[in-house]
Amino acid sequence: MRALLLCATFIGILVSGCKNNDLTMATAANFAPFEYVNGGELQGIDIDIAKIIANELSKELSIQDMEFDSVVQAVASSNADIALSGLTVNETRKKVVNFSDTYFNASQMVIIKSNDKRFADLKTKEDVIKTINKIKNIKIGVQAGTTGEFYSKGDKDWGFDGFKNANIISFANGGMAITSLLNNQLDIIIIDEMPARVLVKANNGTSLIDIALTDEKYAIAVNKNNKELLNKINAILNKMQQDGRMQEIINKHYSR
Ligand code: ARG
Repeated sequence: MRALLLCATFIGILVSGCKNNDLTMATAANFAPFEYVNGGELQGIDIDIAKIIANELSKELSIQDMEFDSVVQAVASSNADIALSGLTVNETRKKVVNFSDTYFNASQMVIIKSNDKRFADLKTKEDVIKTINKIKNIKIGVQAGTTGEFYSKGDKDWGFDGFKNANIISFANGGMAITSLLNNQLDIIIIDEMPARVLVKANNGTSLIDIALTDEKYAIAVNKNNKELLNKINAILNKMQQDGRMQEIINKHYSR
């Protein structure tokens, strides 16, 4: 009854949010293998996880594809119930949304041009950082609003020092950064590991420095007022981990 009244009040403004049986999800589908558009269809690890969640909740999944910058805000402002977007759990974001249990471990990695000798023989994270700091006015490509951007620019809340003498250039997606790298407009790209692997595989002339720069966890963002949904999602995630469906989904979308 209360839900009905609420719907009546907001009708016209939040019509979609009132479709009681919809589970609305915010994402930025430019992040293979987690979410991407293939033949006009949304695919990826996050999409498949969300489909199972909606199914278990007997809800209709409705996906809103937007810029990555807007994904967390969409949930915070109740325009979407949840967000799956390869989203890294972080204190800043925790102020405006709740996060589910972790479903994936991630890190930032560096993509270079294969013929770039400056990054040869690096062994540790410290080696990578030292090398980046040594290159004068290094141009670093990142995806706007992501960990890679905060990591490169430096951010107190995220606990990242940043690269002081670097020129950080933000792109809407990794593919655009790759084009720029291959055109010699960038020295390196800093982006999440799995997307980095997909990009390097798909683009001749690029290589991955297989060293983790950060320690991140992906989780599902849920509106702060919806503890019930959060609990249900955690139960479903837990079940998916136990019965192997989670690993199956990951293997389906990414094989080394
Ligand atoms: N893990 C990074 C972050 O949370 C990048 C996520 C980008 N996701 C996307 N769908 N574009 O900031």
